[in-house]
Amino acid sequence: MPVALVPASPAAIERAAQLLRAGELVAFPTETVYGLGADATNERAVAAIFAVKRRPRFNPLIVHVSDLAEAETLAEFDARARRVAADFWPGPLSLVLRRRDSGLSLLASAGLDTVAIRAPAHPVAQALLRACRRPLAAPSANRSGRVSPTAAAHVASELGDNTAMILDGGRTPVGVESTVLDLSDETPTLLRPGGVTLEALSAMLGPIAAPNVTALRSPGMLASHYAPVLPLRLDAEAALPGEALLAFGPDAPPGFAEVLWLSRSGDLTEAAANLFAMLRQLDRPDFTGIAVMPIPEYGLGLAINDRLRRAAAPRTGIA
Ligand code: TXA
Ligand code: MG
Repeated sequence: MPVALVPASPAAIERAAQLLRAGELVAFPTETVYGLGADATNERAVAAIFAVKRRPRFNPLIVHVSDLAEAETLAEFDARARRVAADFWPGPLSLVLRRRDSGLSLLASAGLDTVAIRAPAHPVAQALLRACRRPLAAPSANRSGRVSPTAAAHVASELGDNTAMILDGGRTPVGVESTVLDLSDETPTLLRPGGVTLEALSAMLGPIAAPNVTALRSPGMLASHYAPVLPLRLDAEAALPGEALLAFGPDAPPGFAEVLWLSRSGDLTEAAANLFAMLRQLDRPDFTGIAVMPIPEYGLGLAINDRLRRAAAPRTGIA
């Protein structure tokens, strides 16, 4: 039976915390996208996430904590990692660090000796973490291979039957997932561009390596990880018959069956916040495909283009 959306009142957050402590799954808003949360110290609860998402086992999850002090109980922070966390947490940045010996589920990091951790900034996520007093493993609350949810209704339509509760905190403000930065080695490596820009990170850390894409160290880098059903065409300059358009900037080319504006003013933050919701809105059999105008390759544009290229990539059947 589909689960009703519950407005994220203090009472609802308290109930959600109890469900999580009892090993149930709860979807909740973060500033990036909605997460499908489980007690990260409960191996069975974490396993349920993989089952519900139908996610391949080798894909490790992000563990959410309320603050740096809690994170330090789960992973090894050196001075550099502490400095980054102090500057960017709470916020849309996940740090991959070596696991410490703790009660953290092994499945949460898919058997790796590292774990991705972040302290989210969203007030509902923070309140939930504090009420629950457990770290929460939470991937984006979509079925594996689909677009991440930026509204509670997206979660309900994909996973509603399989969660104990969906906390509705409105639209997620950032709209793309967190940046995943690997600090487990000497060289900082960007595993996934996201809500914290590469420029902001390099300002603090100096040069940051690009991931070795063939190594698939971050399986979230799998080409077709974020795919709508319709074919997606990037850098579109003119309409093909029956196509819908995701426009960016003041002028959209004519002839599209429908046009949604990621941002009319060319604001990348607004575009990121709209990206997944608009992809969903246009992903209908009424159209032959979704075309996207060119998005500049800097700041949040890096994360937007990364998601768009994966969504446009040939389907591998893995994600
Ligand atoms: O914004 C976000 O990060 C959202 C919200 C809910 O916090 N979560 C999210 O989680 O996007 P998920 O599971 O959909 O993506 C996690 C990403 C994947 O690309 C995964 O491969 C990578 O983080 N990752 C997690 N643990 C890792 C590890 N130990 N080493 C390398 N990559 C890791
Ligand atoms: Mg995801």
